[in-house]
Amino acid sequence: MQRFEDKIVVVTGAAGGIGSAASVRFASEGAMIVAVDLTASGLAETVASVESFGGSIQAVTADVTKSADVEGYVQQAIGSFGGIDIFFNNAGIEGIVSSLEEYPEDIFEKVLDVNVKGVWLGIRHVADVMRARGGGSIINSASGAGLIGTPELVAYGASKHAVIGITKTAAIELASDNIRVNAVCPGGIDTRMVESIAAGKFPSNVEAFKKGYEERNPMSRYGTPEEVASLVAFLASDEASYINGSWYSIDGGASAL
Ligand code: NAI
Repeated sequence: MQRFEDKIVVVTGAAGGIGSAASVRFASEGAMIVAVDLTASGLAETVASVESFGGSIQAVTADVTKSADVEGYVQQAIGSFGGIDIFFNNAGIEGIVSSLEEYPEDIFEKVLDVNVKGVWLGIRHVADVMRARGGGSIINSASGAGLIGTPELVAYGASKHAVIGITKTAAIELASDNIRVNAVCPGGIDTRMVESIAAGKFPSNVEAFKKGYEERNPMSRYGTPEEVASLVAFLASDEASYINGSWYSIDGGASAL
């Protein structure tokens, strides 16, 4: 099935676990990909994966917190492929693991800069390009941490709650332009980020975090980036044509506990 034939998809954080899997998923269903991340070297693997099956992908280095860089990736999408139909607004950072009272101010600001400002700036610059093509779909990467409290991850939790707020606002403002905006809320997904949080929680026993997660999770495992990519692809597709302003948990049932 080629659900995304002739569609142009921008993915931020495309060098990371979930962004890379989503780039591959969209390309495998016929889309042209603009893969955005901080470094070209980081993006090389995603580009190679997509090109390995003849997919179409353009790598763009950009910092999502900088307006000029965001304009740059939008212009690259227009220049290379002609516009933007789907935007996976996914770049994010976890910050550090620390109590709320000891959390460093500079890291708090950095996390909000990437995870909140970066998400807003992306929508701000992409919306008009989508409008010109008659509409589109935006999927923001929130998190289970956007729905419940996250001890020792105050900035991350705050930022992901904010992503859900941005999602709702954008969904309302852009609906009349036929642009749908939704968010995904993954639980523990097997990527660098979850390993980094595990190392922060249990520096001397990283496996303990995974073991504890598996014991608590109804499905007794982390999710895979590919499973998140499936949900993102569904939300981007025409099958989700009346889904707007919503957020979807993908966590093996953790949020049902
Ligand atoms: P990751 O660390 O593998 O990928 C994140 C990517 O974002 C990296 O390639 C990084 O270079 C990029 N990035 C960071 N700051 C950037 C900036 N300023 N400009 C451009 N790119 C930047 O992490 P993962 O797991 O793939 O995470 C993707 C998204 O999913 C994030 O927003 C994360 O918060 C969210 N998420 C991840 C979960 C997990 O368990 N892995 C759970 C819930 C949400």
